[in-house]
Amino acid sequence: MYRLAVLASGNGSNLQAILDAVATGDLPVEVAVVASDQPDAHALERATHVGVPTVVVERQSDEARADYDARLAAALAPFEPDLVVLAGFMRILSAKFLGAFPDRVVNLHPALPGELPGTHAIERAWQEALAGERRQSGVMVHYVPDEGVDCGPVIASRVVPIHLDDTLTTFADRIHATEHRLLVEVLTQLATTTA
Ligand code: GRF
Repeated sequence: MYRLAVLASGNGSNLQAILDAVATGDLPVEVAVVASDQPDAHALERATHVGVPTVVVERQSDEARADYDARLAAALAPFEPDLVVLAGFMRILSAKFLGAFPDRVVNLHPALPGELPGTHAIERAWQEALAGERRQSGVMVHYVPDEGVDCGPVIASRVVPIHLDDTLTTFADRIHATEHRLLVEVLTQLATTTA
């Protein structure tokens, strides 16, 4: 079975989409571990609820990034993931981590390729729409080859329209629903095409 390590810092609704698709048999993977840098991340409870192992790797205040990244990689290694999925993991990972899982780290971002990198992409898209500068945004899943933020070879993306009668809430809900579907689609594709 194709093994996933899912990294999440917060709510974990995308993790939940993965867990739900595994439970219904639509996604042929095993979630081998869920890891977080935040001990109180709701994502950890979602994993525990369905018996998926969790690990928490908090960054110490005086810890160098490279040292943290090496510790995180070492914590995941025993679970032998075929793929590491960054699903709302709010840290930029350095070569120390990426080198441990070459070509095997993917990230989900709530914007189209080349647009709105970094945090609050949904809110920034919304502000641009209010200013008349944008009528759509989107979501993407991409490989993470290096420390570039929300960039890297795109695996798949989806356009999400912004409607005239939208509020930030209805727009954000549409983005998230699209993320949940796209992530499961991409993981299904990777799990079934990777030997
Ligand atoms: C998602 O919008 C994801 O694209 C971004 O962080 C958010 C995480 O949401 N990187 P959740 O924790 O999966 O609910």
